[in-house]
Amino acid sequence: MSVDRQVFLKRNVVLDPLFNHWYAWTHLISPATAALNVANHVKIMKSFLANPEVHEDAAKDPQMMGGPFLDCPVDQSDRVAALLERTLVTQAKPLELVEALKGLDALLAKEGQGLSLESLYARVPAPLRGYVELFYDQENRPTFRLFESLLYRSPFYNRGAQALELFESGADGRPFMLSTPRLEDPTRLHVSLTLDSPAIDALVRAKWTATSLGTLRDSLHLTAAQVPLLDALVTDTCESRVSEPYRGEQVRVRYFGHACVLMEAGGVSVITDPIISYDDAGGIDRYSFSDLPETLDYVLITHNHQDHAQIETLLHLRHRVKTVLVPRNDSGSLLDPSLKLTLEHLGFRNVVAVDDLQTLDIPGGSIMALPFLGEHGDLLIRAKTGYIVSMGGRSVLFAADSRNMEPELYAHVHRWVGDVDMMFVGMECEGAPGSWVYGPLMLRPLTRKMDQARRLNGSGFEQAASLVKQFNPRSVWVYAMAQEPWLRHVLGLAYTPESIQIIESDRLVKHCRERELPCERLYGRSEMVL
Ligand SMILES: [Fe+2]
Ligand SMILES: [Fe+2]
Repeated sequence: MSVDRQVFLKRNVVLDPLFNHWYAWTHLISPATAALNVANHVKIMKSFLANPEVHEDAAKDPQMMGGPFLDCPVDQSDRVAALLERTLVTQAKPLELVEALKGLDALLAKEGQGLSLESLYARVPAPLRGYVELFYDQENRPTFRLFESLLYRSPFYNRGAQALELFESGADGRPFMLSTPRLEDPTRLHVSLTLDSPAIDALVRAKWTATSLGTLRDSLHLTAAQVPLLDALVTDTCESRVSEPYRGEQVRVRYFGHACVLMEAGGVSVITDPIISYDDAGGIDRYSFSDLPETLDYVLITHNHQDHAQIETLLHLRHRVKTVLVPRNDSGSLLDPSLKLTLEHLGFRNVVAVDDLQTLDIPGGSIMALPFLGEHGDLLIRAKTGYIVSMGGRSVLFAADSRNMEPELYAHVHRWVGDVDMMFVGMECEGAPGSWVYGPLMLRPLTRKMDQARRLNGSGFEQAASLVKQFNPRSVWVYAMAQEPWLRHVLGLAYTPESIQIIESDRLVKHCRERELPCERLYGRSEMVL
């Protein structure tokens, strides 16, 4: 086959980001959180190898979906053992950082008794020396912050563990990403490149732009054995497309699934929390990558959970994104890695961090950041924001997973911003236990009682109805319910009609409709104009 042959990447090719053979999400990018998650991966793999049957059974049980169970057959134990062995060698440096973090925590607990902390700098465990500031919090408890931007420039930033895996999507199902490694599969193309590599943009563009096969092979630095795997993923005819620009008079709003909404007006596009299905994936009706415009002017990220700051989709969009907005979080807290730094290290050039009530003017409108309450296990996580997007004389509020526990907050906000035309509210009112995302980062584990009490809950009926009352929208859309099949591997959720999330959101729909207010729980795809 000639290497000068002009080809296209097939439309259903999945580009999965990996970190040390696990599905990459944002906590696997920032050096300290990546190290702590690697330590957790080691724990899960050891648990699987000790009791593989228990994991295999749990992974098949819908009640256990999303639990800490490694989802692979018992007969692949030797491959898990090989990955574990390799991890202990290749991830020795991050694992050293984990021990140093534990050592620092113990040092502060013992020696931070209210007097000056200056003398403790010399006793900070060696790997962390020069990367931390020690201080007391407002309760006079000793703690520390990381110089995160320096850690990205240290040997602890293990970019070499990043990779891309390419394969054709058959169906939507993939094992749950937080607890299952991606074991080597000879039918999949595993490419060792860093996730900020421009080669990823070229690969994505090749879905609708004719590209030299030789150039593609070279850019991915393939071995001879890998060449046939790439060749099987290309075709001579273009299967993907780019959507025509929207030129309508009104604001067009399209629901792409979960918390992903595309707003277009006056030639400007804004998309929230992108998590998008591949083309030709079968199953329920949906918008997919081919339904996106050529340029995305603004990408808004509401918070740093794996279903909202989703690397797989973000990398697919990177070449067409002009500006990304993220909540401002730069405290250096171990639990709250900077989203701006994360995205910059994923190759995004123009990342703007916004704080509560900060407004960014955009052509023909504005984007305002709003306070986001709760849903983070009662931890001080600042990587969270709501947004009001104003375009074409209309305003749309995106409340994502914010749990409206304190209506007075939004009463204050409403006094400042006034009513909105449309509201999107997340109602995953009973979320996962706090340890689900934050457990690997906690130097002192939560008790089971604490863990269950501090769940990552979005708004229930009362909280959502209160938001509706406050902002007086002309339509209400329940979104971010994690029901679409193409994100099951990211959240591991499946509801039944008896699930509290469905019952509470049904109540909101009924409540609004009784007041002649259009309201619907979104699923799959939807289009509205306003
Ligand atoms: Fe969330
Ligand atoms: Fe969510």
